[in-house]
Amino acid sequence: MHRRFLVPGALAAASVLLAIPASAAGASPGAPGIGDPYYPAYGNGGYDVSHYDLRLTYRPETDELAGTATILARTTEDLSSFDLDFLLDVAEVRVNGATAAFASSGEHELVVTPKVPLAKGTPLTVVVRYSGVPSTKSAYGFSTWHRTPDGAVAADEPESAWWWFPSNDHPLDKATYDVSVAVPDGTQAISNGTLQSTTSRLGWTRWTWRQNKPQATYLATLALGRFDISTGTSEGGVPVVNAYSRNLGDNEGAARASVERTGEIVDWLSGVFGPYPFASAGGYVPNTTTGFALETQSRVYYSPRQFANGSNTSVVVHELAHQWYGDSVSVKGWKDIWLNEGFARYAQWLWSEHEGEGTAQELADYVYASHPADDAFWTVKPGDPGADRQFDIAVYDRGALAVQALRNEIGDEAFFAVLKGWPASHAYGNADIADFRAYAEQVSGKSLGALFDTWLFQPAKPAGPAARSGLT
Ligand code: ARG
Ligand code: ZN
Repeated sequence: MHRRFLVPGALAAASVLLAIPASAAGASPGAPGIGDPYYPAYGNGGYDVSHYDLRLTYRPETDELAGTATILARTTEDLSSFDLDFLLDVAEVRVNGATAAFASSGEHELVVTPKVPLAKGTPLTVVVRYSGVPSTKSAYGFSTWHRTPDGAVAADEPESAWWWFPSNDHPLDKATYDVSVAVPDGTQAISNGTLQSTTSRLGWTRWTWRQNKPQATYLATLALGRFDISTGTSEGGVPVVNAYSRNLGDNEGAARASVERTGEIVDWLSGVFGPYPFASAGGYVPNTTTGFALETQSRVYYSPRQFANGSNTSVVVHELAHQWYGDSVSVKGWKDIWLNEGFARYAQWLWSEHEGEGTAQELADYVYASHPADDAFWTVKPGDPGADRQFDIAVYDRGALAVQALRNEIGDEAFFAVLKGWPASHAYGNADIADFRAYAEQVSGKSLGALFDTWLFQPAKPAGPAARSGLT
């Protein structure tokens, strides 16, 4: 649209051209993806978000979500337009106060075209007014907005934001959040971070949550429904907020018996990984029917099914370990998923040892021995599994075997120095597997190229066992 103004000889166009900052006159559209080879359309190019302010209203009976997102960002290149990732119905977009044109494109893109191009380095305030019924929206044939009998939950990986707020949806662009949602009195709205306030009027209660540390978009969560909230502080001083659906049925006891140990587990993990990185900890258990759990930042999502066989502190350990490995230190690209899942699984093995249920070495031996060489398990490369195998069991179990192999290679002293030092060295940032290898080599003084290649990047069962006991 702006390029029209650049046509030479058009008198009216010339005066518009004068209003364009010289450096942005040749601006072009921002890329519709941030450049992740696993998911080329995820995230966007040309700007960096620092903060999301979401002020919303939700009606549980009809699943209607409406409100305003105010996004603070800065351009990283000259832009004639830029994309947000979003599925709901947009009524208005403003960029730095002025209304902007917008259109949907592709499966999940909202293309925003401001009146004048934006020069590189320009601070942006983008206001998106929107509404919609998230459960009616899908992209690529799926939806990750999970309806419950009394509300809904947004929690999934790597996609969940599209169904409830416009964003630059990739872990590379982390930001702080204020999430404020009004729900009918008697319904609760649960999100990340600390609960700043609840205010009631005219039959509606507004819940306002703040995440004051950088957070990846997939780690933002929202749960709406009837919850019991329990609050406390860990012995180590970390505030804990947990929430349980009032309709957990037979799973309620086991869910509480597990998630109420969050403070104890956060303190124990702090001894292994260093200080807990966020201002609040906790989890929530909505009455969803999906089976997984997710490390949503500072407020973990647990499916009730995680507790169908009794208490399950192991999943609590897994998701809380991600607060260091995944949430504070996030992947640069989705191919780096081992940095999340390999270490969260390994934390479960350390917890098993702590609980007297088998040592990490014993569990490594067991996993190694339980997959024969011709098992497809060994064809998955944890260091680059491919988008379709991002959450394959091998990323977790072979991933943790790789961690045990590292431990055996560099010895316990260097190994535990790496486990604790890594989250501090990249706190609130992003890293890839090459960064981790460089860090482990620096701490241990050993060259680890062959070890990483064997355990993470070969589609075959490593000839040498991870185990000192030498099972094959
Ligand atoms: N990071 C999650 C976990 O390991 C996995 C989520 C997988 N996503 C899914 N929709 N099942 O706890
Ligand atoms: Zn995990």
